[in-house]
Amino acid sequence: MRTKIVAGNWKMNNDKEQTKKLIKSLKKSIKNMSLKNTRVIVAPTFVNLSSAVKKAKNSKIEVVAQNMHQATNGAYTGEISGDMLKAIGVETVILGHSERRTYFGETDEKLAEKVNTVLEKGMETIFCFGELLEDRKTDNHFAMVESQLKNALFHLEAKDWKSIILAYEPVWAIGTGETASPEQAQEMHAFIRSIIEKKYDAKVAKNVSILYGGSVKPTNAEEIFSKPDVDGGLIGGAALHVDDFTAIIAAI
Ligand code: G3H
Repeated sequence: MRTKIVAGNWKMNNDKEQTKKLIKSLKKSIKNMSLKNTRVIVAPTFVNLSSAVKKAKNSKIEVVAQNMHQATNGAYTGEISGDMLKAIGVETVILGHSERRTYFGETDEKLAEKVNTVLEKGMETIFCFGELLEDRKTDNHFAMVESQLKNALFHLEAKDWKSIILAYEPVWAIGTGETASPEQAQEMHAFIRSIIEKKYDAKVAKNVSILYGGSVKPTNAEEIFSKPDVDGGLIGGAALHVDDFTAIIAAI
């Protein structure tokens, strides 16, 4: 049975006090949920990771980073390495988010390097990808997703996939209030699994958790999560509000 995951990407939101407060309320609100085979993840900003890790201790909440650099150390002003994250208890990192691709020029090739570093360091990644609105309108969405996966991940060996969580995020649905329909999400997730099976084998395809991201809210989470190839969500805006995020977790 695949692991189900609800991950909150806080992006550049929440200062130190807000971070601690949100984790404290979340801890309380999910305390009595059974969460069997389900991971609950939050991704605060770099500067608040340490406080978040401390605050989340002895709870079901895992704290992950929103990005990392591919090098181990060196002259890369403003960057954070995998070893630095591990040293404060962070073992998982989001990579390839569309905001990193769009605003910070991260290419599939750069992301392939980052993924390699994640594996070298014994870490895990939530790897994001997804098509633009133009791709969807021109019926190029499957080809776009396939090329993103091929370029950034298909050099990996089958055994490496135990450290990979996929997050399909159609860019047109991120922060726009426009969600892919549950059918569109299922269609793409099934396609992703089929190309992984073709490249590797049925076992790799069957075991990889694929999250959907893009305007997931308490009102649509249950229907999206009910689809057989959707294993959870990567949540932006709604993850900043404890009641909404709790409701989304309850929907898994
Ligand atoms: O990382 C999360 C995604 O970008 C989704 O954000 O839920 O605000 O649309 P959103």
